[in-house]
Amino acid sequence: MSARVVIAGNWKMNMTPSQARQFISELTPMVAGKDKCDIVLCVPYVDIPAAVEAAKGTNIRIGAENVHFEDKGAFTGEVSCAMLKEVGAEYVIIGHSERRQYFGETDETVNLRTKAALAAGFKVLLCLGEVKEQRLAGITDEVVSMQTKLDLAGISAEEMKNVIITYEPVWAIGTGLTATPEQADETCGVIRATVASLYGEEVAEALTIQYGGSMNDKNAAELLAKANVNGGLIGGASLIPEKFTAIVDAANA
Ligand code: PGA
Repeated sequence: MSARVVIAGNWKMNMTPSQARQFISELTPMVAGKDKCDIVLCVPYVDIPAAVEAAKGTNIRIGAENVHFEDKGAFTGEVSCAMLKEVGAEYVIIGHSERRQYFGETDETVNLRTKAALAAGFKVLLCLGEVKEQRLAGITDEVVSMQTKLDLAGISAEEMKNVIITYEPVWAIGTGLTATPEQADETCGVIRATVASLYGEEVAEALTIQYGGSMNDKNAAELLAKANVNGGLIGGASLIPEKFTAIVDAANA
């Protein structure tokens, strides 16, 4: 069984609800019928209701950019799985490097959030990747393998059906620096081998592993051509319908 290709946008802290509605109405005809990949937009919490409404009946699915692991309680500023479910989100990004870097998230909290999101029935885009110093020190493989093991601790083979791993070298995010297709393929391969060691070959082969980090309309085809790269998580280029569509097209070629 080969892995499903997933092209996902990560809007980060961009777009208001009305802009989300406008964007999706523009994008809908541009990606209609392009069904060789799943198409997901992960949007700010407050945009989710408008985005879900605008995407109704289309091939665009809506996700959130994070979720808390507790059901409810005194966690000011956080949002629970039940809240996201009720507004119609189907996917959730967890462990994005900006969350790890600016908001103190660790492999432990990433693991807790992932477990809670899977238990609630979400598809999780689990992000991990090395920082520049780690790549330069030659320890990328160890770093991604360790993150894979820690972030997936306690998650069953059955739950892995709803996990997508997103390999994002931190030095490539929003910098215009992209991993070469060979680097992306190699490191996604290390992640797949780690998953195979935990869950067996069948789970590893069926696992969607995306690349993220300055993927755009120009470099997507080359990256997506690699055997271990089953899609992309796209930041900057997901804010422009033409660019995001070009990436969807590359996945449908
Ligand atoms: P970028 O962001 O495409 O703007 O580099 C990717 C991401 O952070 O998911």
